[in-house]
Amino acid sequence: MLSSSKKPVVLREPIVVRAPARVNLLGEHTDYTGGLVLPMAIPFYTTARISALTDEQYIFRSARFEGEYAEPLASDAAHKKAWSDYPVGVLRQLQARGTVPPPFLLELSGDVPLGAGLSSSASVEVASCLAMLALSGQTLPANEMALLCQRAENDFVGSPCGIMDQFVITSARAGHALLLNTRDLSFDLVPMNTGDLSNVSIVICNSRVKHSIAAGEYGERRQQLEAGQAVMRAHFAGLRDLGEATLEQLLACEQAMSKQSFKRCRHIITENERLQHAREAMFGGDAWALGKLMVEAHASQRDDFECSCEEIDFLVDTAIGLHGCLGARLTGGGFGGCTVNLVARDAVGGFCESLKDAYSKHFSMTADTYVCEAVDGALAEQEREA
Ligand code: GLA
Repeated sequence: MLSSSKKPVVLREPIVVRAPARVNLLGEHTDYTGGLVLPMAIPFYTTARISALTDEQYIFRSARFEGEYAEPLASDAAHKKAWSDYPVGVLRQLQARGTVPPPFLLELSGDVPLGAGLSSSASVEVASCLAMLALSGQTLPANEMALLCQRAENDFVGSPCGIMDQFVITSARAGHALLLNTRDLSFDLVPMNTGDLSNVSIVICNSRVKHSIAAGEYGERRQQLEAGQAVMRAHFAGLRDLGEATLEQLLACEQAMSKQSFKRCRHIITENERLQHAREAMFGGDAWALGKLMVEAHASQRDDFECSCEEIDFLVDTAIGLHGCLGARLTGGGFGGCTVNLVARDAVGGFCESLKDAYSKHFSMTADTYVCEAVDGALAEQEREA
């Protein structure tokens, strides 16, 4: 129930932890079919402040949303379609593995742009998980924490997301992007300062068109993709997932699947190929090659995965015509949210102004730009401070 405000009795000093947001440089919608992704953590944070209570209940508050949510220590109430579902989902997953925190008050606050495709949800999940574990005197290895938070979102909130966001928010390292193989969770930390990369900045542009994974289009795309994957598996014995499929194999199955499934699968297969090239480009410090791959990725998201929108396409098309821009694309789940841009450092100021100016003239809406360095994930930050 969303309870009315009452004063709980706090037993000891609160524990305060935080988790960052993320931006994905390349590899969209590849993280639920065994593919590659290339995100980094960015300096927007969810802060979780947790205090032990005398009351026999769990209380959840957020500085960003109205109302508080309280529930008894043992509850199997369903989700409420409210902000509290994210921390409550994490609590349920912890309880399911035998971690039962003492009664608490969890207070969330933060500055991660909401509904912008920068993973405000996973940031809340990871911060909440760290807080509840700390209060219980426990820790979890990074992979387990990321998977637990993903299950909270899949099983309790009801959003069919992949593992990218929870993983990078937990495990990222400052100064690096994280090239993750989502089939086995192996990863490379890719330095962001090799060769020409040291002369470019990551600029995020928020279209302010709201995106929500819980809304149906993400799940619909996922179903179309998985239907195509099922056809390919039936055709090629031993093929585990789209993460290891080739374009030739897809073409061989074209007639056996819907046009939509074909296009969704083509996006995933070409996206995974782009990620392989991005690995070489990044380790070789070739920022131009990375920028070109980002532009190709956007075309594939727009035309094959069909998860862009007019405002985002405008931001990408405008960006790549501006001085100093090496590449631009839609980032995150899509259907609104943000673009990610690779921009020469000395051109960043002019780039941001020109992009925002063009957007407000065209749509009578204001876009925001954020120039971001790669920061530590939540666990790396804790380790550093320990
Ligand atoms: C959202 C999901 C991720 C991933 C992206 C698209 O951010 O949470 O798991 O699927 O969309 O790449």
